[in-house]
Amino acid sequence: MTLAKTVPEPSGPRKIGSVNVVDPETGKNLAELPVLTGSVGADTIDVRTLNGKTGMFTYDPGYTGTASCESKITYIDGDKGELLYRGIPIEQLAEHSDFLEVCHLLLYGELPNATEKDHFEKGVTYHTMLHEQINFLFRGFRRDAHPMALMVGIVGALSAFYADSSNVEDAEQRAIASYRLIAKMPTIAAMAHKWSLGQPFVYPRNDLGYAENFLHMMFAVPCEPYRVSPVLARAMDLILILHADHEQNASTSTVRLAGSSGANPFACISAGIACLWGPAHGGANEAVLKMLEEIGSYDQIHEFIARAKDKDDQSRLMGFGHRVYKNYDPRAKIMRKTCHQVLDELGVHDEPLLKIALELEKIALDDPYFVDRNLYPNVDFYSGIILRAMGIPRRLFTAVFAVARTIGWIAQWSEMHTDPSQKIGRPRQVYTGETRRDFVPLDQRG
Ligand code: CMC
Repeated sequence: MTLAKTVPEPSGPRKIGSVNVVDPETGKNLAELPVLTGSVGADTIDVRTLNGKTGMFTYDPGYTGTASCESKITYIDGDKGELLYRGIPIEQLAEHSDFLEVCHLLLYGELPNATEKDHFEKGVTYHTMLHEQINFLFRGFRRDAHPMALMVGIVGALSAFYADSSNVEDAEQRAIASYRLIAKMPTIAAMAHKWSLGQPFVYPRNDLGYAENFLHMMFAVPCEPYRVSPVLARAMDLILILHADHEQNASTSTVRLAGSSGANPFACISAGIACLWGPAHGGANEAVLKMLEEIGSYDQIHEFIARAKDKDDQSRLMGFGHRVYKNYDPRAKIMRKTCHQVLDELGVHDEPLLKIALELEKIALDDPYFVDRNLYPNVDFYSGIILRAMGIPRRLFTAVFAVARTIGWIAQWSEMHTDPSQKIGRPRQVYTGETRRDFVPLDQRG
């Protein structure tokens, strides 16, 4: 069966005008730069010809004012707090869809019909097992290794096992690699968990749903039956949907940059996992829980908030703030509701960390420091509490995020490979180091 399907290709943004770059001293027009527009969102100035026309570059550390590519996948309106996957609001997907449908939507641009859904699910489940030799790779890691260290290593190593789907010029091979990555990530994350516990690996069960199977591989043991709670399976599915894509965030940009050189898909996703690991990105859910545990009790909340506001203190209110959202993160609202459902299902009505989180949120949303800087709870503020309640250890939280974000990375990577304007990513710099000087022999150095 051929897996490659038509992926909506970048069609080139529309030119709606131009801006001039004028020399302030002579008033001479140095360059006319096109202004481009997409289907919705801010217009952009196309600076690709700027250097050729003026010899100058643009300077934008952290890419705060730069659109790095054209994309048809995910749209965020940070002021409104809106998130759309292929145009569909995240709230509607969270309520009516499931993770594999969302994967199809992100990858191919449309929700699947019944036949497509069946084919897609079968296609993914066919690839859930890992090459048996990969078990030996796990054995090379220390038991106390961080699960993200295992994920970076194992996913990168997939390229050594699946060379038959590593040719990025071949659409069919790209499709097979996509299915493999979506299918194998839960298996790898669950194995990383089992490795740290010293328990036997649990093989995937293709009769279970995606989230259900993930929980099964994490929590089942060979010596007794394990039944996955439907409420927890649904909560995990929701967590996966909410984290599935988020346009050109740091890890996605890393995947695109790695992919721009023609690197194989497994190496690119491994690069994305490495970037996601950081506490300012995917590591934030782990950091939120660590913070809540450190705060420990109600009476410490005010002191912690004061430290988060103090410029001389490194502490930040983890799970608050976002580069793009200057309003409540829509994913955080859904997560907040799910958090209560999960705790109810588990009969944990008075989870102390949830109480601290709720109080922290209340105080921060009223505090001028956070209000003036538009710092609202982000998706990670609640996800850690849910994951912890499900029995997932803190160190595994970012690995769960990586499982979810794999589809976003893959969809963006596939889109990049169909983009006629795609080039190897190669930014420039403002050099402020030494200018040319001569080598000094060792015996003449001071
Ligand atoms: N606690 C205290 N102050 C903060 C926080 C925070 N969580 N976030 C931002 N600020 C302050 C910051 O000190 C700065 O203040 P000032 O203007 O006085 O210097 C101002 O707000 C702007 O901050 P910034 O660092 O320039 O903003 P940014 O867009 O570069 O950073 C962020 C965005 C997410 C890295 C940051 O808000 C942060 O570190 N948040 C905590 C970590 C976190 O929750 N990350 C998860 C992000 S969502 C999941 C994901 O997409 O991966």
